Amino acid sequence: MVSTPVRSTKDLIDREKVQMLINREEQRLNANTEVSAQYYERAKKHMVGGVPSSYQARDPWPIYLSHGKGSKVWDVDETEYVDFHNGFGSMVQGHAHPAIVKAVQERVALGTHFAAPMEDDIIVSDELAKRFRLPDWRYLNSGSEATMDAIRIARAFTGRDTIMKIFGSYHGHHDYVMVSIGVPYDKIGDREDYASLPYGAGIPKAVVDMTIAVPFNDAGALERRIERLIEEGRKPACLIMEAALMNLGVVLPQPGYLESVREITRKHGILWIVDEVKTGLCVAAGGATEKFNLAPDMVTLAKALGGGLPSGAIGGTSEVMDIVRSGKVYQVGTYNGNPLTMAAARASLLEVLTPDAYDHLNKLNDHLMAGCDAILKKYDLPGYTVGISSKGCVTFSPVEITDYESFKANQDGEITELAWLYAMNRGVYMTPGREEEWTLSVQHSIEDCNQYIEMFEELFHDLTA
Ligand SMILES: Cc1ncc(COP(=O)(O)O)c(C=O)c1O
Repeated sequence: MVSTPVRSTKDLIDREKVQMLINREEQRLNANTEVSAQYYERAKKHMVGGVPSSYQARDPWPIYLSHGKGSKVWDVDETEYVDFHNGFGSMVQGHAHPAIVKAVQERVALGTHFAAPMEDDIIVSDELAKRFRLPDWRYLNSGSEATMDAIRIARAFTGRDTIMKIFGSYHGHHDYVMVSIGVPYDKIGDREDYASLPYGAGIPKAVVDMTIAVPFNDAGALERRIERLIEEGRKPACLIMEAALMNLGVVLPQPGYLESVREITRKHGILWIVDEVKTGLCVAAGGATEKFNLAPDMVTLAKALGGGLPSGAIGGTSEVMDIVRSGKVYQVGTYNGNPLTMAAARASLLEVLTPDAYDHLNKLNDHLMAGCDAILKKYDLPGYTVGISSKGCVTFSPVEITDYESFKANQDGEITELAWLYAMNRGVYMTPGREEEWTLSVQHSIEDCNQYIEMFEELFHDLTA
């Protein structure tokens, strides 16, 4: 799942050449996206920054898409791309999958929203309970809603306010978790006692102070921080975390780490929420829970669950979810269990994300990672590939990234930026930003992966020419 990093030093890369290539590729991308530039002029008049979400913004303008089908998307300049971004990892089914199109088309004619329970909700719950080995489920409309309500449930269950997370991990845009992510390296503080820092403005200090972050892959630091919090009278309600980090590229758990986390949280009576918004349904039928054989108290799902419609879910043990069943916690929402979303989720779970689909994703990812690995070795530039099932990336670093500190210290942001430009200029649609990974879909082919590998070879060839 992770290759050995090529251990050359950054000095091997000619930085002037990198800058020259960035400039050249930026000009090429700008020249190829003139219609996007026109859309941007229209868009920014009445839509802030010309985009619906700040994560879609880009300088000098965002690239506006027109449609997608299978493994491909098209932009408004009519350029065709193989899609490795896949809606920030939501579209593991690929675009306009016939089974999902059919389910949504059938449903749309029957009425699109009632705010009343329906049969698809039951079918989806039965399937999720089987896949994630958690009996009790509830629905929402996004990953942020899922993590927000899961944390509230944990607080109600334990009667405590403080929560813990992993430093550098993203769990959505509500106040509880917009803490200690994307902060400058020199502000992180002491590893044993990381600072709680807001991610952007508008987050109350009182809320920020209630969220304590610890390093990934360090069970000792987790336990020591828990013990200190207990001494301070601030015992945490829960630890929310991804089993494999998906917003520092991909960072895998080291052997034994997740088992220790389970043991420590259980020992201290702290609920363990495994946030599967990115991993769930993408790295295995039962997400990271299945892949790493976990027994969390709750999991949160979103993204791929809805097959392209807004979705979210929380799964929990009966003991924990009794707090909702009893009416003590109001887990509510007008659009929860929306019929279109649930029809798409049902079709996706029963007809698309089948055992064969996961075999296909695994084969594709192995092929893509092996292809990139061979190029890294051939050109002897610092980096390694890492991935699980539909997810993966090439991390440009001479050492393996294990947590936020090692990411900030070692990941080569410039090459990551250049790789994105190379991809976009060669028909490979990738997520912008140095934190993201690729997501393959069940409709991707070996040829699609080869297009990525060829683009990657051209990048390394030009860097070393
Ligand atoms: C792990 C994780 N949790 C939660 C979220 C929030 O999901 P949403 O953007 O649907 O609110 C994200 C979004 O990227 C995520 O990666």
